[in-house]
Amino acid sequence: MMAESLSTELPSHLAIIMDGNGRWARRRCLPRGEGHKRGARSVRKIVTHCRELGVQHLTLYAFSSENWRRPDREVSQLMELLCEFLVEETSTLLDNGIELEAIGDTARLPSRVRELLTAVREQTRGLGGMRLNLALSYGGRDELVRAIRQLVHQAREGELRPEAVSEQLVAEHLDTRHLPDPELLIRTGGEHRLSNFLLWQSAYTELYVTDVAWPDFTTEQLEVALTWYRGRRRRFGRTDEQLEGLEDQGYLMGSGPYSVIP
Ligand code: IPE
Ligand code: IPE
Ligand code: MG
Repeated sequence: MMAESLSTELPSHLAIIMDGNGRWARRRCLPRGEGHKRGARSVRKIVTHCRELGVQHLTLYAFSSENWRRPDREVSQLMELLCEFLVEETSTLLDNGIELEAIGDTARLPSRVRELLTAVREQTRGLGGMRLNLALSYGGRDELVRAIRQLVHQAREGELRPEAVSEQLVAEHLDTRHLPDPELLIRTGGEHRLSNFLLWQSAYTELYVTDVAWPDFTTEQLEVALTWYRGRRRRFGRTDEQLEGLEDQGYLMGSGPYSVIP
């Protein structure tokens, strides 16, 4: 099928908004924390499965810049779970060649989390099997503000002319500077919104929303999302006729508007 051949088989960068833990727990008359614990199990399964599939970059929205507004108790619980994950999963990351990174305003995280993040990042640096990016204290607007501040600073020092500001330059100042844009974004928990996730990077990302809550999200459901992705026709502003012409010339449309198309 033409539509299938237009997306590359597998996204090289998959991003996931892991939502619905609280509602999952409430439906079972359990405390919200139970939902987060079960959500952590899904993280383990999905990370390993993505590695097996050959996904190169997996970005998980684990804690947003707005999640600091939650009750202190819930924030502490989430930080505790994150520490547990980092301690318990290091060996799995090492065994599977998975490199850990974090995006977001990580300076706001508690010192124990920061120390563990630094340690696991150092231990897994350069493994190259897959890159797991945890979005922690991450907000797309906050990320853009931090990038703009850096650029303004360079301009004030006389190191940057206004004409030199380009999309590429902005992208190079974001937390995701080493990553391609995500081809596919999955949101569990049924909400049709970005909630401040990867605002710049998801300009042309395929968006897949499932009602399944994150603790119930399985590798089979991931496969359903990937099958849906394969059927997308990614036009990047062009017409279908242009795409067919480009396809005849052997161009693939899965990797973003700038890198593969003349
Ligand atoms: C996602 O689940 C986890 C985080 C945001 C940290 P929620 O806790 O948002 O679950 P719901 O949306 O209340 O069900
Ligand atoms: C998005 O979920 C953030 C994460 C999954 C970490 P939220 O539950 O915070 O999003 P809203 O508040 O419903 O938009
Ligand atoms: Mg939520």
